[in-house]
Amino acid sequence: MSVMKAVVHKGEAGIAGVHYTDMPEPTVSKGQVKVRLKTAGLNHRDLFTLKRHRPDDPALILGSDGAGVVEAVGKDIDHIDVGDEVVIIPSLHWKNKSAAPPPEFEILSLPDHGTFAEAIVLPAENVAPKPLYLSWEEAGVLTLGALTAYRVLFTRAQIKAGQTVLIPGAGSGVATLLIQMAKAVGARVIVTSRSAEKRQKALELGADRAIDSEHDWRELLKDETIDLVIESVGAATWDKSLNVLKPGGTIAVFGASAGDVVSLNLRDFFYGQYTLVGSTLGSIEEAYEMLEFFNKHRIKPVIDSVYSLSDTLLAMKKIEQGSQFGKIAIKIS
Ligand SMILES: NC(=O)c1ccc[n+]([C@@H]2O[C@H](COP(=O)([O-])OP(=O)(O)OC[C@H]3O[C@@H](n4cnc5c(N)ncnc54)[C@H](OP(=O)(O)O)[C@@H]3O)[C@@H](O)[C@H]2O)c1
Repeated sequence: MSVMKAVVHKGEAGIAGVHYTDMPEPTVSKGQVKVRLKTAGLNHRDLFTLKRHRPDDPALILGSDGAGVVEAVGKDIDHIDVGDEVVIIPSLHWKNKSAAPPPEFEILSLPDHGTFAEAIVLPAENVAPKPLYLSWEEAGVLTLGALTAYRVLFTRAQIKAGQTVLIPGAGSGVATLLIQMAKAVGARVIVTSRSAEKRQKALELGADRAIDSEHDWRELLKDETIDLVIESVGAATWDKSLNVLKPGGTIAVFGASAGDVVSLNLRDFFYGQYTLVGSTLGSIEEAYEMLEFFNKHRIKPVIDSVYSLSDTLLAMKKIEQGSQFGKIAIKIS
């Protein structure tokens, strides 16, 4: 049996169960492709996976984002060739754009093996051509965050040019992509962050205003009309986000980094005529739309830092501390 290097979760709960180790090299079957990975991308999801994957279950290869070169294709696949440069689309079994994913939808890495490995085998529909203008690191960190940002901004919140959008938690990987995408369609972008350094970086990335997450948002933003809030911080910012939304505005939620449970004053909510939308990842159809959008606007994801596959644990600790601005790339080969 040939083996490959991989980063897996096994044996112990949480981050203590993360190991750089040997795993069996996967082989392709019908409908699948094998990709030799050059880079992968780390997401907050990889930390959440450590809580959901049971330590006594078989070792699970972590990682939902990646890019590489096709090494083998199933006999029935004729639209993908060995040698094609591809990005991984982490949305499994969600082909067409729809109001919600089908019941069989899964995100790559739990239950299936993920991208923190020298190679991966996955359904052929889950690879797409790598945008030529992106480096391997940029391509490897793109899809999970950019697809999430694309669906929440366009499919779900239906952002329009000229609107003012508030993005709490500017430093997150998805938030940096949201800033770039919202600016590309002509929106005014306001961000919040607890870190002065991240606020400065968000302004350099194109945000029009950056405020301190710990201050009184209503006071700081009293001269603004916020049409749309894109929330992913959760409990720590939920009240503040709703407080600054204009009557009739939309709040879209796709994450809850700082806690899932919030309270909602229903009377204030219905008097305010607000719209609340939830969003999660996106379909393969939306992934292609997202890649077209990126190719058109030549948007490059912000890379905070690059770690080798053997140092993935260090990268995970950095995300745990929340000190990154943008995406963390994992270099594989
Ligand atoms: N539904 C989906 O399909 C999907 C896909 C991707 C991501 N997500 C979710 O989206 C969120 C962001 O993901 P990510 O990987 O980009 O996360 P991340 O890089 O870990 O960023 C989280 C951000 O939240 C802010 N934050 C955390 N705790 C806070 C607190 N107590 N008060 C104020 N701000 C706080 C921080 O902003 P500052 O440091 O700037 O203050 C931080 O940059 C996660 O919850 C993730 O699970 C969901």
